[in-house]
Amino acid sequence: MTVIGTGYLGATHAICMAVLGYEVLGVDVDPRKVEALASGEVPFFEPGLPEKLAEALESGRLRFTTSFDEAAAFGDVHFVCVGTPQAPGSHAADLRYVESAFAELAKRIDRKALLIGKSTVPIGTAERLTEMVHELSPIGQELELAWNPEFLREGFAVKDTLHPDRLVFGVASAWAEAQLRAAFSPILDAGTPLVVADLASAELVKVAANSFLATKISYINAMAEVCEATGADVQVLAKALGFDDRIGSRFLKPGLGFGGGCLPKDIRAFKHRAEELGVGQAVAFLGEVDAINTRRRTRTVDLVRELAGGALRGKRIAALGAAFKPNSDDVRDAPALDVARLLYLEEASVVVFDPEANVNAHRAYPDLDYADSLEQAVVGADVVVLLTEWQQFRDADPAALGRLVAARAVVDGRHALDADRYRAAGWEYRALGRPHGSATHQLVEHEADATRLTLS
Ligand code: UGA
Repeated sequence: MTVIGTGYLGATHAICMAVLGYEVLGVDVDPRKVEALASGEVPFFEPGLPEKLAEALESGRLRFTTSFDEAAAFGDVHFVCVGTPQAPGSHAADLRYVESAFAELAKRIDRKALLIGKSTVPIGTAERLTEMVHELSPIGQELELAWNPEFLREGFAVKDTLHPDRLVFGVASAWAEAQLRAAFSPILDAGTPLVVADLASAELVKVAANSFLATKISYINAMAEVCEATGADVQVLAKALGFDDRIGSRFLKPGLGFGGGCLPKDIRAFKHRAEELGVGQAVAFLGEVDAINTRRRTRTVDLVRELAGGALRGKRIAALGAAFKPNSDDVRDAPALDVARLLYLEEASVVVFDPEANVNAHRAYPDLDYADSLEQAVVGADVVVLLTEWQQFRDADPAALGRLVAARAVVDGRHALDADRYRAAGWEYRALGRPHGSATHQLVEHEADATRLTLS
């Protein structure tokens, strides 16, 4: 099999498939990525993936290339895993990389083969691409197309790829289904649930899943806004709601909200596509989900400003975290960096520290100051603000940190710190959706998530 595109999704897929025993050729237009991967280096932070890459390279079953000629000659099935970012100046998805990958393959493939899209795309894309590849391909309709949406999370990519919750095959023929079954046989043999679908349903599953997750997060963050107006405590609320199995505690963690390369752009592209299809009303609420999420960022800045005494100008702020979530160095649409940028725009002196994302953050926002350690970041700080809940930040000793700062004031943007410990160490502790002096009700870490973390 070939895997086109070696970003988070493609690299993980290629590596894991080779580990499972397939002969895999990874393809990317960026020679630096290809060289890095071929020499055993994963060009992004993903726990457990470097070890799997070493195993795959060692087996001799994984190679990388920049050549589409080589890919077309090599593969019986071709997985397209290239990015679908938000289009510039629009909420639509930018499909140029997907279109180009399918076109480059279609032009060259001269024996029966299956092209499988894994990228997240607007509904109707697979049907349109099918027509395109049939026109371009020397073998016409013998070149088939299927869609196999991917649900892996950054930080848990290896586990989610090798042991997914489910597989979805969007197919237009029994032959395509058989190819996909063969391409995933070790995973299917392990009892993974499989949903065989038409192309449009397969595309829709992906955006519907991400929209649901985003909605759940914004739901609890909307409740946090109500809590702020009433004196209720959103952490208590989330805990109590989560015990209802029908609601569940996962993705019900209040705080700074969602970011990353998927959830924000996927809900926007879905809404945009639904409007094109004349069913915009059905998903109009996603606009509200997005707005609630964005408000969390400005509300976090409000809290920091309040603790800084009403104005941010000249205040030293330690911003802990830059990645969009822990166990990742990804800063795409990162709420953490957005808050740091907003604080900077109000002329605070912002010092950012992230255990893994400093380099990417610096590339995105070179104007901010970056520290090499947590301690260095908090020295002389007027306010400390936790923006990404890395374990290192959770574990920090508030008494020791208290000796380094100028003022013991902390905003917990992720509801990740022990408020009682901080208060006992003389800190003023504030978190969105929690009354100022409330007792701590630490959210019980979700057991499944804890296990996933250990596994990966
Ligand atoms: C998300 C989905 O979870 C994956 O299933 C999907 O495959 C992927 O997008 C994708 O489309 O490729 P990911 O972007 O890696 O995965 O991150 P999540 O773990 O979903 O977290 C997204 C954001 O939500 C993070 O910023 C996180 O901090 C935030 N979040 C998550 C909350 O604010 N509260 C929560 O309770 C959970």
